Amino acid sequence: MLEAEQNIIVNSDKFEILLTEKQIQKRVSELGEQISKDYADKTPVFIGVLNGAFIFMSDLLKNININCEVDFFKLSSYGDAKISSGKVKLLKELNCDVNERDIIIVEDIVDSGLSIKYIEDIFKEHKPASMRVVSLLMKPKSLKYDVKIDYIGFNIPSKFVVGYGLDYEQKFRNLKSIYVLSE
Ligand code: IMP
Ligand code: MG
Repeated sequence: MLEAEQNIIVNSDKFEILLTEKQIQKRVSELGEQISKDYADKTPVFIGVLNGAFIFMSDLLKNININCEVDFFKLSSYGDAKISSGKVKLLKELNCDVNERDIIIVEDIVDSGLSIKYIEDIFKEHKPASMRVVSLLMKPKSLKYDVKIDYIGFNIPSKFVVGYGLDYEQKFRNLKSIYVLSE
C-alpha cells in the first residue's frame, strides 16, 4: 500500500512526509472559514487550476458556507519534470463569464509564481469585480514573479513535493498527505 509507510520510494528517489492529512484538513477548514467571512455578502466564483488543485478545491469548497460558483482552468507548465520548464500553456479555458464577478483562483502550489502571473493577466482582461488567489502551498524562496497570494495554507521549503493533488510524473495525486523529496 502506497501510504502505509511514512516514506515513499520511487526509482531511487525517496519522499518523506511533510504535512499529514490531519494538518492539511485543519488548515483547509481554517482557510474556508476565513474566505467565507471575507465574502459573506458576495457570491464568489472559485476557479480551480487543473490538475493539481482538484483535491484542495474539493476540500476547500466543503468548508465554504456562503453561496458560490465553481469553474476550472487548465494550464501546463511542468510537463513531467521536477523542475519548471519556465513556460506555461493554456489547455482549458473557463466556461463562465468572470466579468464583474468576484473571482478566487485556487492553486495547489505557488513556486516561481509564473502560472499565477499568467492566469491573473488573462483574467484581468475580463475585468472581474475583484480577484484573489488562494494557494494551499507556497515556496516563498522560489518566488520570481511579482504576485500577491491572498490566502496561503502553508509556506514550505523550495523542495519538490507530491500528494494531495500534486504529482510526480502524473502519479501520487491521490495521497492524503504531502510528501517531500529528501536529498
Ligand atoms: P510556478 O508557475 O513556478 O509558480 O509553478 C506552479 C505550478 O507548478 C503548480 O501549479 C504545480 O502544478 C507545479 N509545481 C510547482 N512546484 C511543485 C512541486 O513541488 N510538486 C509538484 N508540482 C509542483
Ligand atoms: Mg498547478
